[in-house]
Formats: sequence, C-alpha cells, structure tokens
Amino acid sequence: MEKTSVYIETYGCQMNKLDSENVAAILSESGYGMVEEKREADIILLNTCGVRENAERRIHGRVAELSSLRADRPGLMFGVIGCMAQRLKERLLSHVVSIVAGPDSYRRLPEIISEARQKGVADTVLDIAENYSDIEPVRGDTHSAWVAVMRGCNNFCSYCIVPYTRGRERSLACDTIVEQVDSLVKSGYKEVTLLGQNVNSYNDSGIGFAELLGKVADTGIPWVRFLTSHPADLSDDILETMSVRENICRHLHLPLQSGSDRVLKAMRRRYTVDHYLSIIDKARELMPGIAISTDMIFGFPGESDEDFEESLSVIRRVRYDYGFLYRYSEREGTKAADFDNHVPEQLRIERLKAAIAMQQEITGERHQERIGTVVKMLVKDRSKDGEGWYGMSDLSIPTVVNGDQAVAPGDFLRVRITGTTGASLMGEYFE
Ligand code: SAM
Ligand code: SF4
Ligand code: F3S
Repeated sequence: MEKTSVYIETYGCQMNKLDSENVAAILSESGYGMVEEKREADIILLNTCGVRENAERRIHGRVAELSSLRADRPGLMFGVIGCMAQRLKERLLSHVVSIVAGPDSYRRLPEIISEARQKGVADTVLDIAENYSDIEPVRGDTHSAWVAVMRGCNNFCSYCIVPYTRGRERSLACDTIVEQVDSLVKSGYKEVTLLGQNVNSYNDSGIGFAELLGKVADTGIPWVRFLTSHPADLSDDILETMSVRENICRHLHLPLQSGSDRVLKAMRRRYTVDHYLSIIDKARELMPGIAISTDMIFGFPGESDEDFEESLSVIRRVRYDYGFLYRYSEREGTKAADFDNHVPEQLRIERLKAAIAMQQEITGERHQERIGTVVKMLVKDRSKDGEGWYGMSDLSIPTVVNGDQAVAPGDFLRVRITGTTGASLMGEYFE
C-alpha cells in the first residue's frame, strides 16, 4: 500500500522550522511519507506563527487558497499546527481544517490524524515535560542545523503571545545537547544555531548558558550561533566565552524593543536602556567588529512622541548592523491588549516607517564601513545571477562573492568585502 503523504509549510521563527523537522521525523516513523510538492500530498500541514495579527491573517488566506486543491483531490486533509493553532484551538476547525495541534502535541499527530478522518480534532495540551530531545529531526539542510537548548518562555513580556502558545520554559539536558552537536559534527555539519526564546536563562542543574556554549564549542563544530538573548539575563561570562572561542560567530542578536525606560517597564522587559547599552559597549570592547542586531516594536500602548524619539536615539547610538522592526500588534490574552492607551494604527505605521528608513540608512553605512575587511563565509548556494556564490558570514550578514572558483555549498571561504547591496555584503576571494 502506498504511504499517506504529508506536505508541511512552515511560517514563523527558527524554532518553528526545527519543529517542522521534528514533525517530519515523528510522522515518518509512523509510516507517513514526507513530500516536497503540495500537489502530491494527502495531508497539508501549516506550521504557523501567532506573534502578530498579520502573521495569522496570512494563514487564514493561505488555508482558503490551498482548499482549492481539493477540487482535484477530494480526500485532501488540512491541518494547522504551531503557535496560531495553540492560540485559537478549536476555533480553527472548519469544513477545510480538520487537524489542529499545538507545539507540545506533535508526538500525538499520528493518532490525531487518524481521528480527524472521522471528525475534526484540536489537541492543544501544553506539557512542561515535552522537549522532543529524543527525536532526531529530518533536517532540511546538510550543513547548518538548529538545535533547541530550551523551549517555552517564562518572561511574559506584556505584548507577547509566546508564553501562552509555547508554555513554560524548560531547558534540555546539557549532555543531550552536546551529544546532538557531536553527532552533527560526525555527519559533517558546519554550523549549529542554538535556539531558545531566552537562551541566557538556560539552566540545567546549575549549568548556565555560558558553560553550555563552551561545551558546544568544544565539540569542534566549525561554527556556533545562538538566538535569542534577553538583555536582562545576558551575563558577562557569555560575552567572555564568545570572545575567547574562535568558533562562536561574531554576532549578537539583542532585542531592545524600546529605547524608553518608561515603555520598557510597561513592556515588562526587566532592564533599562543604560543597562542595555552597557552590554553593547562590553560586547564591542571584547569583540571589536562584532555585528549587533535587534528587534524593536513601535507604537506600543502609551508610546509618546518623546518615547518614540528615545527609541530612534538608541538606534543612532548603537548603530545596529540590522534590525527587525515591527509595529505593535494587539494579542488577545496578553497584558498589553487590556491597556487603555493604544496608539492609533496610523501613527504606529508612520513611526515604524520612519524607524525603518533610519535603520536602513545605518545598515548601509555599517556595511560601507566593512569594505576592506576580511570575513569568513559559509557557502550556501549559487548567487542569484548564477555567476558567484551566496552564503552567510560569521557576522550573520548575507554575503555574495563574485567569480567562479571551485567551491561548493558547505565550504568556508575568506572574503574581502568590496561593496554592498542593501542588506548584503559583496566581496572577493581572499587567500
Ligand atoms: N524571545 C525572543 C525575544 O525575546 O526577543 C523573540 C520573541 S518574538 C518571537 C520576536 C519578536 O517579535 C520580538 O522580539 C518582538 O520584537 C516582536 N513581537 C512580539 N510580540 C509582538 C507584538 N504583539 N507586536 C509586535 N511585535 C511583537
Ligand atoms: Fe516573548 Fe518576551 Fe518571551 Fe521573547 S522573552 S518570547 S518577547 S515573552
Ligand atoms: Fe515563533 Fe511565531 Fe511561535 S515567532 S515562537 S512561531 S508565535
């Protein structure tokens, strides 16, 4: 009998991408076949994000669009899994969607799918003990791998849905993580990205993130990256470990969210702008040239013109290499959604637009300042024009090298930066 085939489409953050690889492993183990082409699928799963309203709007649109595939395949089943599934639960069940599974329910997907053949099923039980650490993900990439070091989040930043969709924070055992990376090294992987909503609060019976980072670096994996750091929990020992380890990439993603202490307090972020800036200064002192990136929210409830100006002034002061800037989006059930001082939508849009324009200019300048420097790059693929190579540098900045040298995806190159194109750096081989 032919295997029932499943196609997974993934939205949201890297943790969701890793989860899709776990889901593929769980379903393959139960006899399902994973396919790359949705037209060949018997079941389509959308692994979704719920962090902002427009992420969810997109999924509703996508479900409607994909449902037309039923014209040719009447038995085609649809599932919504991930954070949006956890947030909206059975509200998502419809004549199209019969499978709903939250981030801690993936182990039960084979049963959920069987039951859903009779009647729609929504399984959204959060489970503090679930960390999928025994699952070997079906990895989509043969050089770069994601490794979860923790799941869930305990921070409850007042705007954020993640603690509700992913449940309480749990750290994976240090030994398990090191074993996973060891085995990736043996399989020829070139880089791992350690994942967690707040990796700095990692704790396995007293082993903190700095120690874990050191142990992961000791495996000999050529490159280590990590996401995401929280300014309230990032201790000096993490920066020190980074600075003495050649295989930890020179990039720190440190979300600021707002440049106003008043707004940070309302966001429940647990740090001040001064504290944040002291981390940036220390990182640059220990690792000159390190790339720094951020996440920021504009138009948070109560954000005044002055608060907004303060955010812009931190952008100018830090001069981020790049930033992920968002306009505030109300999330039902979070503290901030109940605040009564919402900023009008139009003003949120205008502020975001102004901030993006400023950051783009600074990104351009920062890239220009890197001209003449030499970076290391992990080759990913041919560049768009087919004449050179595209990859990611140790600064976590996309980089393009011109010329047709004999390299292949997975090779490391030394590149002298010669120019920039918006978000990317351009360069030439450097012997
Ligand atoms: N745990 C990470 C952290 O603390 O930075 C990532 C959290 S979230 C998945 C990624 C980013 O989305 C956040 O850093 C924040 O800037 C943004 N975000 C979260 N909730 C939001 C909301 N309600 N509206 C707009 N942006 C939001
Ligand atoms: Fe959300 Fe804050 Fe947790 Fe990040 S640290 S996932 S922003 S609650
Ligand atoms: Fe990630 Fe979105 Fe969930 S950013 S943790 S998939 S809400």
